[in-house]
Amino acid sequence: MKLKNFITFEGGECSGKTTVINEIVKMLEKMNYKFITTREPGGIRIAEDIRNIILDVKNTEMTPECEALLYAAARMQHLKEKVIPKVNEGYLVLCDRFLDSSIAYQGVARGLGVDNVLKINSFALDYLPDLTIFIDVKPEVALKRLTLRDKSDRLDLETIDFHNNVYNGYQEVLKLYPDRIKVINGNQPLEDVVNDCKKAILEYIGE
Ligand code: TMP
Repeated sequence: MKLKNFITFEGGECSGKTTVINEIVKMLEKMNYKFITTREPGGIRIAEDIRNIILDVKNTEMTPECEALLYAAARMQHLKEKVIPKVNEGYLVLCDRFLDSSIAYQGVARGLGVDNVLKINSFALDYLPDLTIFIDVKPEVALKRLTLRDKSDRLDLETIDFHNNVYNGYQEVLKLYPDRIKVINGNQPLEDVVNDCKKAILEYIGE
């Protein structure tokens, strides 16, 4: 079931998601719009703790199955503790990543299979975003930005092949949910990416 006023942002590493979300925050603040931002994995204490375990560079022995279950566990808690209550209080909820990340990263890039990922995620979760903004950028373009970043985590340390597989994973996601996902060309200058994303949000809220 789609959850109204729940919008997610998706993309591979260094797709420009963070910049886009920051700019959308500024825009909505100027409009005095009632909204919150949050992120996956994280957004609440328990899920942030799970995030630290998943992304810890020490945890190289973590199996793909363990990783997928931890993402799903963090998602259930975050959805029930924060996303649904906030939507019910009348907020627009903007979330950095959601189920589509698990399909692309764990289902395709880690090779667990899309069906398995959907199965473990449907155990407690029956909700999908009403709109997903997907920043579509080729890994070779995006990863040029990675070296400029000062902080790396376990997933940032993956090979270019892994990131290409994530990219292919998102193409699978697009086939699964063509109506929910708005594709933004992420290969253009960041300023244009931001403007296209802002337009999509304004269209959604009817401004
Ligand atoms: P972030 O860097 O966008 O905050 O995301 C954290 C990392 O977690 C990123 O490398 C993508 C990864 N991830 C998954 O592999 N599966 C998931 O379900 C989610 C939500 C994130």
